[in-house]
Amino acid sequence: MTERRWKEVDTYFVDKIVGMDDALDQCLREAEAAGLPQAAVSPAQGKMLHLMAKSIGAKRILEVGTLGGYSAIWLARALPPDGKLVTLEIDPKHAKVAQTSVAAAGLAKLVEIRTGAALDLLPDVKGPFDFSFIDADKENNPAYFEHALRLSRKGAIIIVDNVVRGGAVTDPNGGSQVQGVRRLFDKLANETRVSATAIQTVGDKGYDGFLMAVVN
Ligand code: SAH
Ligand code: DHB
Ligand code: MG
Repeated sequence: MTERRWKEVDTYFVDKIVGMDDALDQCLREAEAAGLPQAAVSPAQGKMLHLMAKSIGAKRILEVGTLGGYSAIWLARALPPDGKLVTLEIDPKHAKVAQTSVAAAGLAKLVEIRTGAALDLLPDVKGPFDFSFIDADKENNPAYFEHALRLSRKGAIIIVDNVVRGGAVTDPNGGSQVQGVRRLFDKLANETRVSATAIQTVGDKGYDGFLMAVVN
């Protein structure tokens, strides 16, 4: 099964049921034009994040790693008019592009982009959150997860992106990003405060996966 086939199937899903629109297309175009890395979630993944947040009636969402605001738009669209998405981004250039795209999507009132290293910002972020999406530097995954957990209400969902990395997660000698993912799994192996699973995915973004935890 080739990567080309995975992409074709993602395209099929997007055409049939995911739905893209001008704001989402424009967001990806702006990011590319500004030379941002192409690391946004896929459309199908974005819609899944949106549906998960919506299904639990999330009113407050935390995101670590904004990039150009693509996942932020999907997540903010799950919010009620008085909801809030707080999203953290270390790179001011990324944050600026994201702010423009979020505003163009009509979501500026719902989305607060904070610029800085997430580990510096998180101690001042006020909870509780119903939903968290962790998608920044993988080295700090365990610390981000700990903050998200501390800031979560009971029943909250925490999603972590890129926990498979082409299967590298099982490599005990993997690089620093893989080590960050593995330390998160080690932590969760002995974590009674959440119930967790992880799902391997193929598609637009190759072979990767999501971790999902629900706070007890
Ligand atoms: N969630 C985005 C993709 C995020 S890519 C989407 O799906 O659309 C990862 C982002 O994390 C990048 O923009 C990168 O600059 C940011 N990042 C990396 N290290 C960070 C840190 N220490 N604190 C906050 N953001 C960080
Ligand atoms: C990449 C993908 C991601 O989802 C991410 O968060 C960071 C990097 C990548 O494809 O390089
Ligand atoms: Mg990611």
